[in-house]
Amino acid sequence: MLDDTISIKIEKTTNSKIKDVDWENLPFGKVFSDHILEMDYSDGRWHEPVIKPFQALSLHPATSAIHYGQSIFEGMKANRAENGDILLFRPDMNAKRFAESSERLCMPTIPESVFTELVRKIVEVDKDWIPNKEGYSLYIRPFMFATDDFIGIKPSDTYKFMIFTCPVGVYYSNPVNVKIEEFYTRAARGGVGRAKTAGNYAASLYPAKKGQEEGFHQLVWTDGIEHKYIEESGTMNIVFVIDGKLITPSEDSDTILRGVTKRSVVEIAQHWGVEVEERKVTVAEIIEAAKDGSLEDAFGAGTAATIAPIAKIGYRGEVYDLPPVESRTISNKIKNYLSDVKTGKVEDTMNWCLKV
Ligand code: COI
Repeated sequence: MLDDTISIKIEKTTNSKIKDVDWENLPFGKVFSDHILEMDYSDGRWHEPVIKPFQALSLHPATSAIHYGQSIFEGMKANRAENGDILLFRPDMNAKRFAESSERLCMPTIPESVFTELVRKIVEVDKDWIPNKEGYSLYIRPFMFATDDFIGIKPSDTYKFMIFTCPVGVYYSNPVNVKIEEFYTRAARGGVGRAKTAGNYAASLYPAKKGQEEGFHQLVWTDGIEHKYIEESGTMNIVFVIDGKLITPSEDSDTILRGVTKRSVVEIAQHWGVEVEERKVTVAEIIEAAKDGSLEDAFGAGTAATIAPIAKIGYRGEVYDLPPVESRTISNKIKNYLSDVKTGKVEDTMNWCLKV
């Protein structure tokens, strides 16, 4: 079994692509760093991880993840501080969520300390790929999928865990317009909504496409039973500010992804003495607040999205405009503070960052 004294084989590329990168115009998720980490699971154990030149995979057509969806992933970021330190933001939370997703999908777990060490190592190897521009980061994508070549429904006996990284710019360059979805459902109680598994995103594509045809960038998902309670948005968790109070759907329901950025927003706000309510949030109260002007702010929180202000909320054919982004004191302050912590500009009093 893996332990903290894990050895990692490293084969460095002799043909770096770094000189081809347009660092001023980095699209999200389209530029890949030079290396990839790969670790296989078979015979009931994880084998020695290898970091090797980034390359395509060759897979058997019956690879079970392709057919039956045993596939999970994480999203994380590394930044370079002004003093040159490389900082990972709360990797322990991703390690924990990855282990929880593994269990829910009947996949083998990776000890959290090992997960973090593997992330640390691949970032160290590709540290020159961390962008230096404000708002840009090195996005880290750990993932695992079932590799048995077998037709039939059972947990795979073999798996591949991999990590690659991408230098990225912003995910949303403008405030987003969202539509509250009342027909389609992202996650059902007792389902896999809390897991970061590929199928959750696949299932969201068709409803999201319909929303886009109506002019909305994203949907706001509601509960699968009554469509009465707000859960999360397509690529991020969701937070509202009403009368100075920060309100966000509680994660007690197993239909909501436990977001690292959302948790950080809540903890920062509480630390600053902002009143925070994590509870069931009804669509009705948000629409009421949008109508009477007490909805001061709504924003998404996610690793890729960071803090993404919501400009308009669509609901039952009406579109509600939210206050100008400049007026949103709490989320602007949290956004700046989070960015400063991640880049070492302020003291990391919560001990969130791990130095690579
Ligand atoms: C992330 O925020 O890291 C995600 O995985 C969401 C995806 C939209 C990139």
